[in-house]
Amino acid sequence: MSDSKTRDRLVRSQYESYPYPKRDPADERTRLITGSPSNIPEVNHYVFGGRRDLTAPFNALVAGGGTGDAVMMLAQNMTDLGIPGEVVHLDMSGPSQAIAKERAEVRGLSNIRFVEGSLLDVSDIAPGPWDYIDCCGVLHHLEDPDAGLAALSRQLAPNGGIGIMVYGTYGRTGVYHMQDMLRTLAPSDGMEDSDRVDTAKRLAKALPTTAWLNRNGLIRDHLHGGDPGVYDLFLHSRDRAYTVPQIADWVAGAGMRLVTFIEPFLYDPNWLVRDPRLLKRLEPFDAITRAAFAEQFTGNLKKHVFYAVRQDNDVSVLTTDSPDVIPGLVNQSAAEAAELMPSGGQIVVSTEGLKVDMPVPPLARMLVGLCDGKTSLAEIHARVQEKRPEMDYATFKVQFDALYKVMSAINRMVLRMPANDG
Ligand SMILES: C[S@@+](CC[C@H](N)C(=O)[O-])C[C@H]1O[C@@H](n2cnc3c(N)ncnc32)[C@H](O)[C@@H]1O
Repeated sequence: MSDSKTRDRLVRSQYESYPYPKRDPADERTRLITGSPSNIPEVNHYVFGGRRDLTAPFNALVAGGGTGDAVMMLAQNMTDLGIPGEVVHLDMSGPSQAIAKERAEVRGLSNIRFVEGSLLDVSDIAPGPWDYIDCCGVLHHLEDPDAGLAALSRQLAPNGGIGIMVYGTYGRTGVYHMQDMLRTLAPSDGMEDSDRVDTAKRLAKALPTTAWLNRNGLIRDHLHGGDPGVYDLFLHSRDRAYTVPQIADWVAGAGMRLVTFIEPFLYDPNWLVRDPRLLKRLEPFDAITRAAFAEQFTGNLKKHVFYAVRQDNDVSVLTTDSPDVIPGLVNQSAAEAAELMPSGGQIVVSTEGLKVDMPVPPLARMLVGLCDGKTSLAEIHARVQEKRPEMDYATFKVQFDALYKVMSAINRMVLRMPANDG
């Protein structure tokens, strides 16, 4: 058997023996796992310029759906918003699909279809056109990720888009040292999986403080993800990581256009670099060069999440220019957000060991509390005027834009146009 076929077999058997991530279907009774990419308001904002008709059928493919996180979120979002259509869970691991199926049953979701097979065969087993494709944590495990992305992008509707997660090179420093050591200590052809997992755990514990994994300090999946987490992180037979420029080339090579990385501020030196002289020197560079700088500057991006559309799709992300625009919060209610938001001053955004101060305007708390995803800027202004009659739209807008700048940078607020009410 060729090396690549052997690795294909090993990847498949890993996800059959250790469905990942580890999930208990009973938990669906008490919580919905949310995140990026793939929640509907965010997809509407980044892929459809906030102009998607949410009463029209929406068809989404989750390629390599695993134990079902993205499928649950998409199908539940669609059900809650009354959006017709279906979510297809495509995966080559039957046991992972079985868990996702149970989760869907517990939730009572009836808008999911399951297809077992490889995403490389998508044109035969789950042909498009898809409005949206989610592919998280999958393409970096293929022998030829370029072929995988190209196969998916060919199944997109002309105005459709894709949300992807792949590993980040710098943030995973230490992981590949572990994988290399374990190829010596716990080879895939000489040991039972359970012994290999045990060896990986022992090695992680035995490492001195000088080892890259410990010096990194941000790698924790092996501590919280059970045996599937240990296997996925340290014993994977095939995984690779990407830098920003590699992603840019990869996406362009598949005939696609990168819309944004999530969260945007992590890829923007303006939020990260405080030295004005350094910032000035970065100013002339294009967005990808600046994003590439940002990822090396912080060094903490273990993964890259991004949205892309077809190259010939010139959709632009909606701005706050029109008073008809409706702002909404991502994965948070207006009341929850208002609770956390100060009335002016700074908020501190913490992510993977990095802390960034961001200024918010005096009306921040009130404004965030009014962003319920149904109320337009004009209506929010009218509500503000009930308390501040002297505040005209232009003055309100300056404060709203200052808030939006922060909330959009941290991917907590998205926009849509009206008449999209599902
Ligand atoms: C790391 S898990 C990620 C699961 C899910 N996307 C998530 O984010 O939770 C990778 C999944 O991709 C699936 N997979 C890997 N290669 C695949 C392929 N060529 N076709 C379909 N599924 C694949 C595996 O079976 C596994 O369930």
